Amino acid sequence: MRKTLEETLTCFTSFLSGLFLTAGTNKMNIKILATSLVAVLGTQVVAHEGVKNPAVMARMNGMKTISENMKVVGEMAKGKTRFDVSAARAAMVAVAEGAAETPALFTPEEDDPKSEALPLIWERFDDFTEKANRLEILASQLSASIEEPEDLRSALFVLGENCKSCHELYKE
Ligand code: HEC
Repeated sequence: MRKTLEETLTCFTSFLSGLFLTAGTNKMNIKILATSLVAVLGTQVVAHEGVKNPAVMARMNGMKTISENMKVVGEMAKGKTRFDVSAARAAMVAVAEGAAETPALFTPEEDDPKSEALPLIWERFDDFTEKANRLEILASQLSASIEEPEDLRSALFVLGENCKSCHELYKE
């Protein structure tokens, strides 16, 4: 399950990058992109079942909140839900808040057999914190700049790259 998860995410992000080089304003591609995002996020919900350490559970729940809010925007981009500028902006605010809480949630070096966090986090905690801060800044900028459906695509791209930059170093 874990492996599939990681592979899917990596696959998704490279797919996304490729798409952005070629997509232009093609609406069909927006739909493909959004479908992939929703598929990826959908596979991630069960990862923390059976976690015993409450500190690990708390940081996983923080990540889950971030990804649920990404899903709100993903489903809107896909056309599964109606475009709603205030709901999209609120989801970005929630991502920013989740990112703001991330360094504190990871400060104690806690472990659990179900955790996917790598020990490198606590060797390079400054860099880890910087990546979380970057997500906070990007999401809060997006919470003010999203105006129309087309903006959702770039939001998903920019934030997706950020998730990847942290996960590829610090998550199994
Ligand atoms: C600063 C680093 C960092 C950033 C940025 C980050 N993550 Fe994570 N994420 C982690 C780590 C580390 C874990 C593994 C936590 C564990 O298993 O203890 C994780 C786990 C997850 C999980 C699995 C949670 C669970 O229930 O096991 C999801 C889903 C997730 N991240 C989604 C996202 C999304 C979506 C983004 C971007 C919008 C993102 N993350 C940005 C570090 C980060």
